[in-house]
Amino acid sequence: MKLAKKLRPPVEPRSFGTGLIVGCFLVSMTYFMLSRKQIVSCLPSLLTDADPTSSAVQSSEEFHFSDGEEVIEAGKPMCDRSSFRVDICDMEGDVRIVGSNLSSVTLIAPPAPASGGDGGDSSWQMKPYPRKYDFSAMAKVRPLNFSWRREEEAALRCAVNHSVVGVLFSTGGHCGNCFHDYADVLIPLFQTVSPLKRRVQFIISDYQGWWMHKYRPYLTNLSDYDVIDFNSDDRVHCFRRLIVGLRAERDLIIDPSPPSHCCSISHFVELTRTVYSLGRDRAWRREASAAAASATRPRLVFIARGGTRRFVNMEELMAAAEDVGFEAVASEPDFYDVAQFGRVVNSADVMVGVHGAGLTNFLFLPAGAVLIQVVPLGNLEWISQHFYAEPAMARNLWYLQYNITQEESTLMDLYPRDHEVFKDPDAIHKQGWFKLGDIYLKQQNVRLDVQRFRPTLEKAMDLLYQRNLH
Ligand SMILES: *[C@@H]1O[C@H](CO)[C@@H](O)[C@H](O)[C@H]1NC(C)=O
Ligand SMILES: *[C@@H]1O[C@H](CO)[C@@H](O)[C@H](O)[C@H]1NC(C)=O
Ligand SMILES: *[C@@H]1O[C@H](CO)[C@@H](O)[C@H](O)[C@H]1NC(C)=O
Ligand SMILES: *[C@@H]1O[C@H](CO)[C@@H](O)[C@H](O)[C@H]1NC(C)=O
Ligand SMILES: *[C@@H]1O[C@H](CO)[C@@H](O)[C@H](O)[C@H]1NC(C)=O
Repeated sequence: MKLAKKLRPPVEPRSFGTGLIVGCFLVSMTYFMLSRKQIVSCLPSLLTDADPTSSAVQSSEEFHFSDGEEVIEAGKPMCDRSSFRVDICDMEGDVRIVGSNLSSVTLIAPPAPASGGDGGDSSWQMKPYPRKYDFSAMAKVRPLNFSWRREEEAALRCAVNHSVVGVLFSTGGHCGNCFHDYADVLIPLFQTVSPLKRRVQFIISDYQGWWMHKYRPYLTNLSDYDVIDFNSDDRVHCFRRLIVGLRAERDLIIDPSPPSHCCSISHFVELTRTVYSLGRDRAWRREASAAAASATRPRLVFIARGGTRRFVNMEELMAAAEDVGFEAVASEPDFYDVAQFGRVVNSADVMVGVHGAGLTNFLFLPAGAVLIQVVPLGNLEWISQHFYAEPAMARNLWYLQYNITQEESTLMDLYPRDHEVFKDPDAIHKQGWFKLGDIYLKQQNVRLDVQRFRPTLEKAMDLLYQRNLH
C-alpha cells in the first residue's frame, strides 16, 4: 500500500518510538506515586456533597429533572472520579452537547436543593480518556467543559434529538500505538457499551481519520448509528442519557468481577474475529492419523519490528524454529491494515516477539496458542508482566518468557561491559523514564543465542502436543 507507506512517518514515531515507550514507563512510575486519596481530592466542587472518598458521587436523592410530564429520577451516581485510571460520568436528564471548538456538555436542570440554593451555575472539566495518571497521554486529550444550568439558552436549542444513549470518548492520548488503541479505547469501549446492545450513539472527541479507518469494523458492530466527529460538528446534540468516558480497570484485561459482568475478554476476542473475518478459533491440534499429522506443522510467527528492539539474527531463529518442527514466518505489522496482520497472527499457533506494543497482537491468536515474550535487558519485568504476560494468561493462552542475557543484547556493541547499563539498571531507572526508555527500549536490539533459545521453542511445541493428548 503505497499511500500508507507515504503517510507513515508522521505517525510512526508515536507508534513505535519514544512517545509510546515513555507512556508505558509513566504508567509504572505514576502508579506508585499516586495514592488514591490525592486523586479523589480533585472532585468537582459541585458534587462534593457526597463523601469524597466513596467510590461514586451521588447527586441528591430527592432531586428530579423535570421535562413536561416526564420526571426522571436522578438519584443514581453521576460522575465517578475516584479511580486512578478513569473519570466517567453517566448523566440522565436533559443533556446537551456541542462539539466544534466548544467541547461542552451541559445538563439543564435546576440546581440540586442540597447544594444550598445559591442558584449559581456550576462547571467543571474532564478528559474522556481512561489513563488519567499518565500526564503525557492526557496532554493529548481535549478537555470537555461541563456545566449545570438552570434553564436552557437559545444557543443550546437542540438541533438533533437522540433517542438512544450517547457515549462520548476520545481517540487522542496515546492512540496510534496499538497497545493503547486496545487498552485505552477498544476494550474499554466494548466493556462500556456491550450492555446497550447497539442502541448507542458514539461521539468521538480528538477524532482521527486513520484511527477510524483501522478500527471502524469494531464501531459498526457495536452501534447501529454513524459516529459523530465531535470536534468538527457544531450542532447541539441532545440526549436523555449520556455517558462520558469509558470504563476500564486493567490493561487488556476485562475484570471478571462486577460491574464488568457484561462480558469477558473472550467475548472481545470473538468480536475481533468476527469484525476482521479471522477464521481460526482453535490452535493446531495433533491429528488422529499419523499421515495427517505429518502433513501439517504448527505455525510460528516472529513479530518483526522495523525500528527498535529488532531480532538481529532473524534468519537463524527461523531456521531453528523450522528445525524444532514449526513452519516459521516473520512478519511486520502494517500500521493501517489491521485485518491483514490479524490474519497472519490468527494463522499462527505460536507468536514470538520482543517486549513492545506489537505483542498486543496476541489478541488475534486462536485459543490454545502460545505467546513467547522475549524480554530485553533493563529490569523490564514489571511492564512485561503487567502489559502482556498477565493479559495473555487472562485470555487463556499459554505463556512463555525468554529473558535475554547480556551477550544477547546489542547494547554490548554500544557500552563497555562494566557500564552501569549492565551493572546497575536500577541506577538508570532512577534517572527517569526518558533515559530508561532511550537506552533499554530504543537503543537495544536482540541477537538471541540459538542454543539457549531452542528449549523455549521446544517447550512451545510440547505445549501444543500435550494439550492435544486429551
Ligand atoms: C468558535 O466558536 C465561536 C462561537 O462560540 C465562533 O464564533 C468561532 O467562529 C468558532 N471558531 C472556530 C475556529 O470554529
Ligand atoms: C472551558 O473551561 C475553561 C476553564 O473553566 C475555560 O477557561 C474555557 O474558556 C472554557 N472553554 C470554553 C470553550 O468555554
Ligand atoms: C428536540 O426536542 C425538543 C423537545 O422535545 C423540541 O422542542 C425540538 O424541536 C426537537 N428538535 C428537533 C430538531 O427535532
Ligand atoms: C458483532 O459481533 C458478534 C460477535 O462478537 C457477532 O455475533 C455479531 O453478529 C456481530 N454483529 C454485527 C451487526 O456485525
Ligand atoms: C525473568 O526474569 C525475572 C526477573 O528477573 C524472573 O522473575 C523470571 O523468573 C525470569 N523468567 C524466566 C523465564 O527466566
